Amino acid sequence: MVEFETISTQNKQSVLGIYQKIYLGDCDLNALSDMMDRPPHIGFCGYTDNELVGFISANHVVDELDIIELGVISEFRRRGIAHKFLIYLQHYCVNQNIKKIFLEVAENNAAAIGLYEKTGFSKIGARKNYYSRKGTLIDGLTYCWNSIR
Ligand SMILES: CC(C)(COP(=O)(O)OP(=O)(O)OC[C@H]1O[C@@H](n2cnc3c(N)ncnc32)[C@H](O)[C@@H]1OP(=O)(O)O)[C@@H](O)C(=O)NCCC(=O)NCCS
Repeated sequence: MVEFETISTQNKQSVLGIYQKIYLGDCDLNALSDMMDRPPHIGFCGYTDNELVGFISANHVVDELDIIELGVISEFRRRGIAHKFLIYLQHYCVNQNIKKIFLEVAENNAAAIGLYEKTGFSKIGARKNYYSRKGTLIDGLTYCWNSIR
């Protein structure tokens, strides 16, 4: 069971706290924090038994969304929580008349790729050396979900 809440000034610091936990501190906290303060941002966090377990963060431009981050704390993984976040976001898009969701994922992130493919996203492109992780360049894959089939 996951209860969803919109990311707001009330819960933003807690969300940034689990963001650091999810990436073991290897993340740009200020960049995400600034992005969350800007109007195109829309995000949801999720609670299980009152514990904050994950979040999804996106930018909304006209009739499209770009997912910026999606993460679940390690103790709560493989329970279908990230899948629930994406289904929740897809329903939000249908209700808001948002037609497409885009995202980039590192080509070596098998967990995330499996998740997106399970949730109806299709691969539409690749970006050479899109990510730099600890001095290693990794290709990015672009995925898209269409609300109109
Ligand atoms: C990717 C992530 C969000 C998945 O969260 P999760 O709640 O564990 O995912 P779910 O339990 O909803 O899994 C849904 C599907 O994703 C895939 N998946 C999830 N974790 C996986 C893993 N470790 N290995 C392979 N496939 C995996 C599977 O297809 C799974 O479906 P299944 O359980 O029927 O096999 C989580 O591992 C995470 O936070 N990782 C670190 C941050 C990150 O990489 N975010 C994505 C940025 S693009």
